[in-house]
Amino acid sequence: MLSRAIMGSLEELFEAAAAARSRAYAPYSRFPVGAALRTPSGAVFAGANVENAAFPVGICAEAGAISAMIAAGEQEIAEILIIGEGNALVTPCGACRQRILEFAAPDAKVFVAGPEGVRASFAMASLLPEAFGPSMTGR
Ligand code: THU
Repeated sequence: MLSRAIMGSLEELFEAAAAARSRAYAPYSRFPVGAALRTPSGAVFAGANVENAAFPVGICAEAGAISAMIAAGEQEIAEILIIGEGNALVTPCGACRQRILEFAAPDAKVFVAGPEGVRASFAMASLLPEAFGPSMTGR
């Protein structure tokens, strides 16, 4: 794994996720979420949840950050931070765990934050044990 000094600061990731969260479109749940990921190149990509009047069409913050990464030509998540409000940890939903796994090594860090700062960190593999991943398809 790259050292923190090479990768860039956790604060930068937090600020990017918080800024995206402040622009979330979540009028139905009123639960804005932001996500920011860093690739090994050091680039940071952020996303926010985008809800829809047709509820199932809504998109999670993590999906937006991953789309931004792919559109920029990168395909590896070194670390990702998700921020939401409330007392509970806003860990990625099941679908987003699968989305992150596609681009993250088992030891990639998933940080969970509240408005005040980072609350917890998990290794990717611990969030989706025995996962079905890219290697199973022969990639
Ligand atoms: N949400 C995310 O953006 N990411 C997650 O991992 C958990 C849930 C969003 C979806 C929905 O817009 C709102 O939070 C409430 O579930």
